Amino acid sequence: MNPNASSPLPDSETRFRALVEQLPAVTYVAALDPDLPATYVSPQIAEFGFTPEDWLADPQFWVKRLHPEDRQRVLDEVARGLAAGGPILCEYRLLDAAGRPRWVKDRATVIRDADGRPLAIQGVMLDIDERKRSEAEAAQHHAQLHALNRRMESAIEEERRRIAREVHDELGQALTALRLELALLGEGLPADPAAAARIAAMDTLIGRTVDTVRRISYELRPGVLDSLGLLAAIEWQTREFGRRTGIRCELALPEREPEVEPVRATALFRIFQEVLTNIARHAGATQVDVGVSAALGNLLIEVDDNGRGFDASTAEAGASLGLLGMRERAAEFGGLVRIDSEPGHGTRVTLALPVVAAP
Ligand SMILES: Nc1ncnc2c1ncn2[C@@H]1O[C@H](COP(=O)(O)OP(=O)(O)O)[C@@H](O)[C@H]1O
Ligand SMILES: [Mg+2]
Repeated sequence: MNPNASSPLPDSETRFRALVEQLPAVTYVAALDPDLPATYVSPQIAEFGFTPEDWLADPQFWVKRLHPEDRQRVLDEVARGLAAGGPILCEYRLLDAAGRPRWVKDRATVIRDADGRPLAIQGVMLDIDERKRSEAEAAQHHAQLHALNRRMESAIEEERRRIAREVHDELGQALTALRLELALLGEGLPADPAAAARIAAMDTLIGRTVDTVRRISYELRPGVLDSLGLLAAIEWQTREFGRRTGIRCELALPEREPEVEPVRATALFRIFQEVLTNIARHAGATQVDVGVSAALGNLLIEVDDNGRGFDASTAEAGASLGLLGMRERAAEFGGLVRIDSEPGHGTRVTLALPVVAAP
């Protein structure tokens, strides 16, 4: 007696069919002979606007509904999967009944006959259209943000350059004129020690103001960067940093000035400034070593400090805009920033940036 006849359960095929037809995915079995139609497609294909009958009537149905831009890649993937004995995995766009491309993720295995010859493939097709769309949107937003960031950076840089020049030229000239006038005034006065002392004090004050004006304009936009180039700017910045903080600074520069596009030189210089600022603010270091070298089309800047160090991964998980800005600026030019640091063991920041015309 057939044991199934008395079983209250339907036969296994019916059971499995009922199961797969509840999945939020399309399941299918397709013959490998291109002239033979598919043998099964689950009713969820209605999500794409087709009936199983549409699908099963034409052996080429699936191939015809592949997005033309994806078709060859998918067919190659199937061939590769078959050659490897399966499984076949790919993501592609399927054109629904209205001709609208819909992203699917397809995973299939090979069914073989008793001799191991491949007969058919059976698979599951998941609708991943929404995920793909949000991925594409996110990528687009990302690109837009980057473009915006770049535009803002260059606008800020341009503005700084303009203000620096104005401060330097206008104020600088006014102060020089003032100093001359003061000297003339002194010469015209009868010999009076009190007045002479006053004039000397004013002259000292003007001299200090000239220095301040020069410093402000340099900090806004170091003129050396434009006139003498990146190495001179790094040298100047390091000296200035040492003088201001009292930290001992060693500097090793390459012999030749590397050829660096101005926008890249600015990016490198701004990152370098941020590294030094961080040392002054956070490191509590007594010694800083700066090494600049050019290798394999990259410019490398290494800055070591012997300060307290920190946990870079924790710092970056927070809202540390300085480190983020450094990375963003470097990434914009295909470069990267590496931070090696441990609490108690100082910090090394390595900046590598491809430069256009490698020597
Ligand atoms: N050279 C350094 N030595 C010690 N700690 C550092 C150093 N550079 C950065 N940090 C740590 O990393 C954090 C994030 O730096 P950053 O993003 O530049 O932000 P900010 O300087 O505004 O605090 C700092 O607050 C500091 O704790
Ligand atoms: Mg900082």
